[in-house]
Amino acid sequence: MMILQREELYLLINNNYAIILALLSGLLTGFAIKKLTRPSDAIPGSLGFPLVGETFSLLSAANSSKGCYDFVRLRRLWYGKWFKTRLFGKVHVFVPSAVGAKTILSNEFRLFDKCLVKSMADAVGKKSLLCVPVESHKRIRRLLSSPFSTDSLSKFVQKFDKLVSERFKKLAENGNSFVVLDLTMKIQFDAMCDLLMSIMDESLLNEIEKDCTAVSDSMLSFPAMIPGSRYYKGIKARERLMRLFEEMIASRRNSKEVHEDFLQSMLERDSFAADEKLDDSEIMDNMLTLILGGQSTTAAAMMWSVKFLDENKQAQNMLREEQLSILGNKPKGAFLCLEDLNKMSYGSKVVKETLRMSNVLLWFPRVALDDCKIQEFEIKKGWHVNIDATHIHYDPELYKDPLHFNPSRFDEIQKPYSYIPFGSGPRVCLGINMAKLTMLVFLHRLTSGYNWTVDDQDLSLEKKSPFPRLKSGVPITLTALKDDI
Ligand code: HEM
Repeated sequence: MMILQREELYLLINNNYAIILALLSGLLTGFAIKKLTRPSDAIPGSLGFPLVGETFSLLSAANSSKGCYDFVRLRRLWYGKWFKTRLFGKVHVFVPSAVGAKTILSNEFRLFDKCLVKSMADAVGKKSLLCVPVESHKRIRRLLSSPFSTDSLSKFVQKFDKLVSERFKKLAENGNSFVVLDLTMKIQFDAMCDLLMSIMDESLLNEIEKDCTAVSDSMLSFPAMIPGSRYYKGIKARERLMRLFEEMIASRRNSKEVHEDFLQSMLERDSFAADEKLDDSEIMDNMLTLILGGQSTTAAAMMWSVKFLDENKQAQNMLREEQLSILGNKPKGAFLCLEDLNKMSYGSKVVKETLRMSNVLLWFPRVALDDCKIQEFEIKKGWHVNIDATHIHYDPELYKDPLHFNPSRFDEIQKPYSYIPFGSGPRVCLGINMAKLTMLVFLHRLTSGYNWTVDDQDLSLEKKSPFPRLKSGVPITLTALKDDI
């Protein structure tokens, strides 16, 4: 290769000055024209190739240890806060502001409706609360609410507390390191199956959990029935689960045994008018939706709480102090009740801060039902708009020092739509109270009973997971605070 001396380089530039200048000014003019001709209300971004658009970039981010939000993060760097892209054949706009979230969530069903990508919709089923049209949504949501009534939740708290206490005790006695995510996935799954169908048999629980995991893994996959693919495995697992639920419903109808669970409360409505009951496929799709919606989300949030508290000893100590005082005011060995949870004011702030920082649901998808505007941006009918809760929760204008885990920030009231880990409006999370209670019980037993060390500090995210989770799952070792826990 020819290496130019400094003088030669000057000469070259001098002689070709006019050409270089023309090239540079051409580039700048092109850029300026592009900027000027793009209307200020046009959303920047690349739609990529026809149909597939940037789908493979999203899937490749989901398959990396940076997680699928890296797809969004990169485009923000390239295009700014607002950007559009094309995914699975549809134009998607990522909405980064609390004002935008308000516009969408306060116009639910009128201007916007939920629209899942095909792989997610196929996983949960057509009659799932997440997929049905507005008319069915109202009825199904009302009828699904029974396990979340105060009465049901108060029984749930005691049962869940017993489950958590026993598992922690066993793990501490054993003395070995264990993976928090494995524990939280298992306790949350067992509790949900008990609540919904009174299933306690360990081998049946394992069988159902294996299939639910395959369905969950297929939620962000390319929706083609190619044997061996994640999508194919998910659809097959879903078919097995539906057959199992069908058999359970038939056997309940043929038996006189009485159960106190969600399924029983649905079957007791068999003779009710059509708008006062769910049909069998609605029951089955929604049992699966509740398990999928309730297990991985809450389990991931509990895992993140352990990680954040480990990194913030001051918050951990304050939480422990509060939980020990609640424990100290109860008879020895008594289980928690709803009133105890209401006293956990610092605990509630730890839960809130964990949910703000972990963003278990990174963004919430909707489709525009008509041409409309969000802030100054034109949105076309049929475009998908994703409320980017993650960006909102990390916005330094809404949260001072947003990367710092600081539960006390919730001493102050948040601006509307700036704190939305459970969404808002008619589609707000159905399990919102259950999720909060579950996390409080978990944190109570952990901090009032034990100290822990995190045995792997790797921050890589789990690949292919629709929810952000650490690949390590956070392995920890427990030490009991007292000998007689
Ligand atoms: C920390 C745990 C949880 C988080 C962060 C969470 C988050 C969310 C969010 C953000 C939404 C609304 C999504 C949207 O607007 O598009 C949602 C909806 C939903 N969640 Fe949760 N969730 C959690 C736990 C649960 C639990 C425990 C259950 C059930 C047992 C559950 C069941 C549902 C259902 C059925 C919906 C759909 C509601 C509807 O469309 O009307 N979630 N969740």
